[in-house]
Amino acid sequence: MSELTLYKGEVFDFIDSPLNRKDAYRYFPDGALVVQDGKIIDCGPFKEVKGRYTDYEQVDYSGKLLMPGFIDSHIHYPQAEIIGMYGKQLLDWLDDYTFPAEQGFALSEHADRMARSFIEELFRNGTTACMAYATVHPASVTALFSVASEYNMCMLTGKVLMDRNAPAGLTDTAEQGESESRSLIETWHGKGRNRYVITPRFAISCSTEQLIAAGRLHEQYPGTYIQTHLSENKDEINSTLSLYPDCQDYLEVYERAGLVTDRSVFGHCIHLSDSECRRLAEAGSVIAHCPTSNLFLGSGLFDMLQANRVGMQTVLATDVGAGTSFSLLRTMGEAYKVQQLNGYPMSVFESLYKCTLGAAKALHLDDEIGCFGKGRKADFIVIDYAVTPSQQVRMDYLKHHEKWTLENKLFGLQTIGDDRNILATYIVGRRMK
Ligand code: GUN
Ligand code: ZN
Repeated sequence: MSELTLYKGEVFDFIDSPLNRKDAYRYFPDGALVVQDGKIIDCGPFKEVKGRYTDYEQVDYSGKLLMPGFIDSHIHYPQAEIIGMYGKQLLDWLDDYTFPAEQGFALSEHADRMARSFIEELFRNGTTACMAYATVHPASVTALFSVASEYNMCMLTGKVLMDRNAPAGLTDTAEQGESESRSLIETWHGKGRNRYVITPRFAISCSTEQLIAAGRLHEQYPGTYIQTHLSENKDEINSTLSLYPDCQDYLEVYERAGLVTDRSVFGHCIHLSDSECRRLAEAGSVIAHCPTSNLFLGSGLFDMLQANRVGMQTVLATDVGAGTSFSLLRTMGEAYKVQQLNGYPMSVFESLYKCTLGAAKALHLDDEIGCFGKGRKADFIVIDYAVTPSQQVRMDYLKHHEKWTLENKLFGLQTIGDDRNILATYIVGRRMK
């Protein structure tokens, strides 16, 4: 028999969407999580779980929260160096900061170094899986998959496709982009915990031929994913429609190329028409809401209530480096404020779901990550509720008034929590932070 480890603490996970039912989560205040060979084999009340095993190592996280690791469904690893740059709005920010920084990834030593520090930063923030943009350089993809493989981390990424409207050092051609992507798919897709994401950057930087090539690749490799940006900024939309005058709206540009599927993740989607929302919902596509980025670039306020009403699948994501934090706790806090401005005081359970099981389901990964169901990979985090004087004062107050409830604990983490609250991060049962 291989070794068992029993983690004692408060245990929380989702079993369904909180939009479907009130009891969508499990919470064991005095709970236990049991891990064997990197997988979850049991969880529940400590006394009951403990009784089922005789030979195990116990790790005591009493008073701390054990929950599935965060999943960041939209992030750019080559933009870590330019987080928080005064870029004004999207198109200026891309030209002034993003494209120059991404050119540095032509050097594979740079890509290797940045891939490692990126993944370490994810772990510091409690993120255990992500869907990331690399750059146009194939070596940037190799670097990220290689480091992720060393840690046995669940990584989804792909080479950015861009054949126009960008500096020469950052462009490929439709043909070159297709063949480089194919070769990366053959090497990496499904190898260990890696998955390939076909990545046309956005319509402005991709010709019709390139988008069609991307759609063709996905048809040939239907297990791959697609990621791109959609309707983030008004100037971006106008520019797209002038480049694609035959299309009625922005989404149609991607539809014509076969890129609107249930394995497609669209970043932002702030300024969509009702028709575009309906078509995205019908396709089962995923919309990544990135509130820190949208506020930072002044892109607009994503309407989560409308998205929920239409039945669009939404997840929360950081979008670093336009996003201003690697922390999904910070991201949840900003998502709450954006929805406040829309008149929708989104519950902390909805936010948290969209960074864990909701994201895993949206990415078709829920048999591997996102919850503590038996057989899932042991990718989990341990959260300390109070690591700052302010958090301590708040906790003491709520305890004194007998209001130290799960909802108040989680809402506090969302509002005033960050990477400091992540006490430990585990990937397949191995501690990374
Ligand atoms: N649209 C096209 N590329 C990008 C990018 O790198 N970041 C953001 N926020 N939007 C984009
Ligand atoms: Zn993005």
